[in-house]
Amino acid sequence: MQLRTMPAVTAVVISMLALLLPGATVEAHNITAILAKFPEFSTFNHYLTVTHLADDINNRETITVCAVNNAGMSDLLSKHLSVFAMKNVLSLHVLLDYFGAKKLHQITNGTALAATMFQATGTASGSSGFVNITDLKGGKVGLGSQDSGTTDSTFVKSLQEIPYNISVIQISSMLQSAEAEAPTPEPAAVNITSLMAAHGCKNFAEALLASDAMKTYEDDFDGGLTVFCPIDDAFKGFMPKYKNLTVAGKQSLLEYHGVPVYQSMSMLKSSNGLMNTLATDGASKFDFTVQNDGQDLTIKTGLVTAKIVTTLIDQQPLIIFTINKVLLPKELFKSALSPAPAPAPEADAPTADSPKASKKKKRKSPPAPASSESPADSPDGAAADQVADGNDAAEIKGFRLAVLGLILWFASIVV
Ligand SMILES: *[C@@H]1O[C@H](CO)[C@@H](O)[C@H](O)[C@H]1NC(C)=O
Ligand SMILES: *[C@@H]1O[C@H](CO)[C@@H](O)[C@H](O)[C@H]1NC(C)=O
Ligand SMILES: *[C@@H]1O[C@H](CO)[C@@H](O)[C@H](O)[C@H]1NC(C)=O
Ligand SMILES: *[C@@H]1O[C@H](CO)[C@@H](O)[C@H](O)[C@H]1NC(C)=O
Ligand SMILES: *[C@@H]1O[C@H](CO)[C@@H](O)[C@H](O)[C@H]1NC(C)=O
Ligand SMILES: *[C@@H]1O[C@H](CO)[C@@H](O)[C@H](O)[C@H]1NC(C)=O
Repeated sequence: MQLRTMPAVTAVVISMLALLLPGATVEAHNITAILAKFPEFSTFNHYLTVTHLADDINNRETITVCAVNNAGMSDLLSKHLSVFAMKNVLSLHVLLDYFGAKKLHQITNGTALAATMFQATGTASGSSGFVNITDLKGGKVGLGSQDSGTTDSTFVKSLQEIPYNISVIQISSMLQSAEAEAPTPEPAAVNITSLMAAHGCKNFAEALLASDAMKTYEDDFDGGLTVFCPIDDAFKGFMPKYKNLTVAGKQSLLEYHGVPVYQSMSMLKSSNGLMNTLATDGASKFDFTVQNDGQDLTIKTGLVTAKIVTTLIDQQPLIIFTINKVLLPKELFKSALSPAPAPAPEADAPTADSPKASKKKKRKSPPAPASSESPADSPDGAAADQVADGNDAAEIKGFRLAVLGLILWFASIVV
């Protein structure tokens, strides 16, 4: 083989190696980092972080962020909106489609309606969550919220385009929307049980209303609350077991479905791990593990693995998800289930902790979600999962090595 083909072969080998090495994979986009390159957008960027919209943006693909510079933000800031209203306003500036400069100037029929993240929260009514994009005379592109009926802002320039994941553009001014700016109801004013009942979780809501657990939920409203409520089919099937629990057991079970911090879907997805619940009380851990499973987000108690079905409400500091199974804490059900044939590797290794039937409570155990980095805290279920993860990692590593070997072999033949 001629020497001059050597560089080409080397290049191929090196680029293939790059694909195989861990850490060399293409990173998902990070809106905070993208905007940080443009200091004149620091205010807009700051509020994306404060409202946690940055997380939501990073977890989506095929979106367009319409950013406004610091001068353009001052009008909005002078309105002194609550952080909730601010989130609504900013989420109106995140279009759920990819609009690069080219596409903006070539809109079919000259006008289009783009759905936004505001519309996706379910807070917006009717057409108010849509942005009207219209190609104007002289190559200008006008944008306006559909509820305002005007195109009061224009496209200025493209800041960064990563087709077709994220396009970040500058627009001349904030999109006006009375609805997005409207004071959002205080989350405390939301009646969570009637909300649950209206969205397919009537049985769980009724159980909650009949228990002191309701008081615990109410106490945690202001500081942040994430609720995982089982859909009716799941709770109905569980009813015989639920009725069998003591009053304290029922309360613990219900409290086990709440987490005393606000965790959006994207926050849960990006920080998998162990979480304490409202039922956590000193030695009674009552925790579970949150783990991504492809597109799904799962909750593993060590006895069941439930899946998040929908987001029922997301209004900081409150968020309610529906899940497809009742979460069974080991503290209540381990002894009851242990004689049954082990359904999963999670149900192994008996632990020394005695199943607590009654527990004197007055919580306020550390409310922060325990991080998965503290192995001392991890129950055997989580440990089993981690072992499983380790196996996966080992397999991937093995696969990488095998492919690497193939490439080197191939390279040696060609050269
Ligand atoms: C787009 O996002 C996906 C998922 O995050 C990623 O795999 C892909 O590499 C990204 N594409 C670009 C061009 O960054
Ligand atoms: C995004 O970038 C910012 C600033 O560079 C950094 O602080 C943050 O941790 C990044 N977020 C993610 C999810 O990587
Ligand atoms: C463009 O206009 C034509 C005729 O009015 C219509 O049939 C078509 O659906 C429009 N296309 C889009 C993308 O709105
Ligand atoms: C967008 O707004 C313009 C001007 O108000 C209007 O003519 C156009 O029909 C609107 N486009 C859509 C898709 O509603
Ligand atoms: C919420 O609504 C339920 C009826 O669904 C009612 O029984 C309960 O008292 C209400 N709670 C509050 C705090 O208003
Ligand atoms: C209820 O408890 C009793 C006594 O502990 C037990 O025999 C029965 O199987 C339990 N029923 C259910 C549905 O768990």
